[in-house]
Amino acid sequence: MSDQDGAGPAERGRFQRTDELTERALVVDARAIARGDILPLAAGRTTFPRYIDRAAGAHLWDVDGNRYVDFLLGYGPVILGHADPGIAAAANAELERGVCFAPLWSPRQVELAELLVDTIPGAERVLLLKTGSDATTAAVRLARIHTGRSVVVRSGYNGWHDWSVEQRAGVPDGVRRETIEFESSDLESLRSILADRGSEVACIVMMPCEDDVTSAEHLQLVRDLAHSVGALLVFDEMRSGFRLSSGGAQQFFAVRADLATFSKAMANGYTISAVTGSAEVFDGLGSTKVSSSFHVNPGDMAAAIGTITRLRDTDALERIWGMGRMFLDGLEQIVGELGIPAEVVGYPPMPFMRFLPSDSAADLSARFHRGVVERGVLLHPDHQWFISAAHTPFDIEEALSVCRASLARL
Ligand SMILES: Cc1ncc(COP(=O)(O)O)c(C=O)c1O
Repeated sequence: MSDQDGAGPAERGRFQRTDELTERALVVDARAIARGDILPLAAGRTTFPRYIDRAAGAHLWDVDGNRYVDFLLGYGPVILGHADPGIAAAANAELERGVCFAPLWSPRQVELAELLVDTIPGAERVLLLKTGSDATTAAVRLARIHTGRSVVVRSGYNGWHDWSVEQRAGVPDGVRRETIEFESSDLESLRSILADRGSEVACIVMMPCEDDVTSAEHLQLVRDLAHSVGALLVFDEMRSGFRLSSGGAQQFFAVRADLATFSKAMANGYTISAVTGSAEVFDGLGSTKVSSSFHVNPGDMAAAIGTITRLRDTDALERIWGMGRMFLDGLEQIVGELGIPAEVVGYPPMPFMRFLPSDSAADLSARFHRGVVERGVLLHPDHQWFISAAHTPFDIEEALSVCRASLARL
């Protein structure tokens, strides 16, 4: 990393409180110790914010008072914008009446299940849980019960549980042997896996789209391949759900999965997830236990009802697509004009830019992202970005001018 990328004198103190908190965290906070920084340090100093003081709409303020236009959005959940007053009011109204009364239920649970059945294609039944990993793991359990098989063929990130975590550490060999990974764009690899182990496969779990755009034909072929060996198709809609369209990827591509899993944009950042699918597959739920004391929190359910209703009944998604299109097109133009070795990819609600493979790609990416963060825009170096309904043309223009300035310095 060149010296010019380090924090100059004007930058000293930019992350003063962040550095103080980090120093304390590195003694006691296991996650902080294990994860490291999102961007490499420059001249030994933090270059990406760590601790957030508050958030509103499309903006975040870190503990040092720096303001950012946020395109991380909590890894996607914050689809209406941070601290949306209507969603907060709906959730708070429930919280004031008590939050935890498992094994008893709130009327919100019935209302939300009905709303999901009305909104998500193929949803005859709904199972409500807390996290995305909860939902994908429940879907795998249901698929195993339904098919009487154990092997999972999966692609992309599906959560942190034993069957899906990419890293080998801590995962028993037996579990790993039951999980086979494939590249979702590579049908040949999928065909060869199914030719080899097809009769053991309970389900194929995949995000309908990852960083790049895909096609309905491709998804239909995956579905046909799954069914040709008697396996179920599970769409992991954690990112596409309520974002590509209010009915998710199944509605957007008009391709039906047997089960679909949702979380993230479902409740604008409140903690809730869902599995949806056919009644026949859900019949297996009675023979297992998928349960937590916290699966039935009415505050999160109220947030989900408010968020889904807004996405379905207003122009929020249209505006998200419009802002995302403006960002994608603008960035593509800048990259072309400046001759940057990068490509701009993805659907407008979740755009991304990646540097073309080369020896200097990692360095270019770190310098670009450090440049935009310094100028007040948060873009993740290794993960899709997200647009919310709170982003305005001014935010996108600000982001584009910051991207141009940072790219020009490369
Ligand atoms: C596609 C996908 N599946 C599953 C998950 C896991 O969700 P959670 O982090 O809520 O457990 C994520 C989270 O980033 C995700 O992006």
